[in-house]
Amino acid sequence: MNEALKKKVVVVTGGAGLLGREFCAAIAQSGGIAIVADRRLEDAQRTASEIAAAYEGRAWAVELDITSKTSVLSCIASVCDKFGRIDAVVNNAYPRNAHYGRKLEDVTYEDFCDNVGMHVGGYFLVSQQFAGFFRQQGGGNIINMSSIYGVVAPRFEVYEGTPMTMPVEYAVIKSGVLHLTRYLAKYLKGTGIRVNAISPGGILDGQPAAFLEKYKGHCMSKGMLDKRDLMGVLVFLLSDASAYMNGQNLTVDDGFSL
Ligand SMILES: NC(=O)c1ccc[n+]([C@@H]2O[C@H](COP(=O)([O-])OP(=O)(O)OC[C@H]3O[C@@H](n4cnc5c(N)ncnc54)[C@H](O)[C@@H]3O)[C@@H](O)[C@H]2O)c1
Repeated sequence: MNEALKKKVVVVTGGAGLLGREFCAAIAQSGGIAIVADRRLEDAQRTASEIAAAYEGRAWAVELDITSKTSVLSCIASVCDKFGRIDAVVNNAYPRNAHYGRKLEDVTYEDFCDNVGMHVGGYFLVSQQFAGFFRQQGGGNIINMSSIYGVVAPRFEVYEGTPMTMPVEYAVIKSGVLHLTRYLAKYLKGTGIRVNAISPGGILDGQPAAFLEKYKGHCMSKGMLDKRDLMGVLVFLLSDASAYMNGQNLTVDDGFSL
C-alpha cells in the first residue's frame, strides 16, 4: 500500500457507482479513509464492506442525496462525528431522471431544467456546504468530476449507428462544473480550501463495438479508458503533491479532445 493519502478522510459522492467504487478503493489503497456517500445506501454499504475487507477501517458508508441541503449537512455531521475531520470531497454523483439521454429535439424544457438542476445544482450545494465546513476546520479539498464534453464540443459522429448520443444537458452540466470549479477556487482565496476538476474521456462499460472503434479513431493509443486509468490523477489531486494546484482541470482522455 502506498501512503500518499495517509489517514485523509475523503467523501466520495456517488461512491457506489461505476467510478465511485473504484475511487473509494483507490483512496483506501493509498492509505486514506473512503466515505462512500450515495443515495443508494445498501449499495454504498456493500461497497464499503468490500473495501474494508481488504483495507480494514478504511471505508465507511453514508446515505447522501446531493440535491438536499438537509442530507448534505447530515452527511458532514455524521462523518465528522465518526472521524473528527474531513479532508476532501469528490463531487462524483450522477443524478439524472428517467428521460435523460434523449436527442436534442426530444428534450423537454422540464427535463432539461430537472437534469441540469439536480447535477450542477447538486455539485453547487455539496461544494457550498462542504466549503462552509472546511472554512471552520481551517482547510479542505474539493474535486469536481467534469468530462471532456465540458471542454470540447461533442463529436456526434462517433455515436452514428448506435442508440447513444451526447445529451445537451450533459454538455451544459459539465462545462458548468468546470466554471464552478474556477469560481469557487477564486472565491475561497485565503481559506486553505482548494478546488480542482477532472475531465475524463469515455470509460469502458459495455458500449457497442462500432462505437468503440469510431471513438478510438480520435485517440492516441488506447481509446476508451478503463476505470483504473483515472486513479493516478484522483490520488494526485487528493494528495499533498498537488498542494498548490487550485482552480485547474486535468483532462485524462488519451488525446480524444485534441
Ligand atoms: N463513466 C464515464 O464514462 C464518465 C466519463 C466522464 C465523466 N464521468 C463522470 O464521472 C462521474 C461518475 O460517473 P459514473 O459513470 O460512475 O456514474 P454512475 O451512474 O455509475 O454512478 C453514479 C452514482 O451516483 C449516485 N447518485 C445519483 N443521484 C444521486 C444523488 N442525488 N445523490 C447522491 N448520489 C447520487 C448513484 O446512485 C450512483 O451510485 C459523473 O460525474 C460522470 O459525469 C463519467
